[in-house]
Amino acid sequence: MKAQREKAKPVSRAALAKAADRRLVALSVSIQDDAALFDEDIRGSRAHVAMLAAQGIVPRAAARRIDAGLRRVRAEFAAGKIRFDEKLEDVHTHVERRLGELVGADAGYLHAGRSRNDQVALDERLFIVGACDRCDASLAGLQRALVAQARRHERTLLPGYTHLQRAQPVTLAHHLLAFVEMLWRDRQRLLEVRRRAAVSPLGAGALAGTTLPIDRWRTARALGFAEVTRNSLDAVSDRDGAIELSFAVALSAMHLSRLGEEVVLWSTREFGFLVLDDAFATGSSLMPQKKNPDAGELARGRASRALGDLVTLLSLPKNLPLSYNRDLQEDKRPLLEGPKALCLTLDALAGLVETARFQPERMREALGGGETLATDAAEYLVEKGVRFREAHEAVGAAAAFATRAGRPLSSLTPEEWRRFHPAFGKDVLRCFDPVRSLSRRELPGGPGPRRVRRELERWEAALGMRRKR
Ligand code: ARG
Repeated sequence: MKAQREKAKPVSRAALAKAADRRLVALSVSIQDDAALFDEDIRGSRAHVAMLAAQGIVPRAAARRIDAGLRRVRAEFAAGKIRFDEKLEDVHTHVERRLGELVGADAGYLHAGRSRNDQVALDERLFIVGACDRCDASLAGLQRALVAQARRHERTLLPGYTHLQRAQPVTLAHHLLAFVEMLWRDRQRLLEVRRRAAVSPLGAGALAGTTLPIDRWRTARALGFAEVTRNSLDAVSDRDGAIELSFAVALSAMHLSRLGEEVVLWSTREFGFLVLDDAFATGSSLMPQKKNPDAGELARGRASRALGDLVTLLSLPKNLPLSYNRDLQEDKRPLLEGPKALCLTLDALAGLVETARFQPERMREALGGGETLATDAAEYLVEKGVRFREAHEAVGAAAAFATRAGRPLSSLTPEEWRRFHPAFGKDVLRCFDPVRSLSRRELPGGPGPRRVRRELERWEAALGMRRKR
């Protein structure tokens, strides 16, 4: 077998009179990237050869030997035992070559009615389906971590921010559920991507199908696909699925960068809203006192990579004539790495969120002296029949007065309030109770605690979380 391997010829150059120049070989090799597709590639080949046998295109005994050989090649790939040879270019040729070494000449039956062009299109579609499932599981994991913390902090108050300035009180539960919503949309998007990817291109051949009596539905079904592609040229040249997955990944990574940014901000001494568990913090090689939120920072950094991957994938097919062009080989690294990076980020953030200790006291302090309830005072006037613009101006003037006097807004007396508008009564002071403010915000989508409780229950059910009570 050793001798055979040394004699191994490169990818077929049947029509060419010379061996490839080593500089061309060095440029074309892709096994370092696409080896990651070995499992998808071998699943496709097993379905293909079973179909060839069922259609009487290859002898059943040969198909059985090929299938056993393919399973062995898969085990060798999984164990890292396949030696890469750059002359063999890609994963497809490596699999076929190793199969040849294992089962002999009969391996040559396998590639009937198929090209590497429809083969790689299939491998990518299988990969996309699997990647969507893996990302979905990790997204659900982070959702659960967020919901569990939200449940613990149903009554923890903090200022919600706009422009990173204290705006209005919300509960920590409501704040955390905002991320749960984003991640839910990410999951829905992946589901769509998955559905469109689950279509078999096998049978498109190099670009124009095959003259052999293959059964495309049979391979599709064997691979768990409910449909087959409807145009062979499109099937081998389309990379929409890769681009869509990359978009869904980039958008989700962008969401995680926002969560990461809040982890970074909130864990500063200045904010102090969050204390990271030591297992999810890093130290400094120089400064002994440091406790750093690297996972949050990497969530931001990984998002940049995800955006780059999307731009790479979008620009690869741009301006390409039909159908397959070798440019498309360059899709492997962004396609294969992107979802993996997303899952790593999701899993780390899930652990970080699960173990983080939020600081209700600090959050409460940040609510300050009633400034975040100025809108409530304006709405108080509206309820008394005042036009909102007029009310807004009156409370604005009161707030400016309090600032000049160096006093919190909540310290103004009813008499002082009346100076800014005659409709202010004694009960205006009630506006400055944040708990009361929240309890009056029970509208759909609002931060009212009862509303948020219902949302929590809905999420716990949707995410299959059993409540420990
Ligand atoms: N490694 C190639 C790719 O990923 C497989 C298809 C090669 N086809 C070809 N005609 N050279 O695109």
